[in-house]
Amino acid sequence: MKVRVAYMTYLGNNQKAAEALRDELSDRYEVDLVSISEGASGSGGADLVVVCSPVRMGNLVRKSRRFLKSLAKEGGLKYALVVTHASELTDEKFNPIKPTKKWMAILDEAGNRLISEPLYLQVTDIKGSLKEGYEQKIEQFASNL
Ligand SMILES: Cc1cc2nc3c(=O)[nH]c(=O)nc-3n(C[C@H](O)[C@H](O)[C@H](O)COP(=O)(O)O)c2cc1C
Repeated sequence: MKVRVAYMTYLGNNQKAAEALRDELSDRYEVDLVSISEGASGSGGADLVVVCSPVRMGNLVRKSRRFLKSLAKEGGLKYALVVTHASELTDEKFNPIKPTKKWMAILDEAGNRLISEPLYLQVTDIKGSLKEGYEQKIEQFASNL
């Protein structure tokens, strides 16, 4: 099976997470790691697409949203999401769950299929790095793909 891991990053955390995920998956799958900011779009012919994105201002960032739209347009794909965030999952305004669910609904509506619950990775503060233990979370997430 071919897997595309597409990441968007401003501060490097999603690149780090995407690379760790690629390393976890590459024993079992053919993995294509691509950067959304460098213009990656769509599935690139992969059977499964994993999108890694930051949340900013209570939403997935614009370039990630554009990438997700390109997946929605294709339809018929398997997908999974990794979302990095600084706010608590319970935060009313800035939590990452609401926007993630919104995009899952858009992708599902377009005939795509979520194959594992999203992985939420918290960073230490608004410009911080991934909290300790993220490698194990990625390993666990990868084992479900
Ligand atoms: C301008 C700005 C807005 C942000 N807004 C949010 C937010 O609404 N919710 C949240 O949980 N984290 C927020 N964050 C933290 C980002 O989620 C965090 O910087 C990001 O996950 C790191 O990913 P990256 O290193 O790949 O860019 C914000 C960060 C910045 C710089």
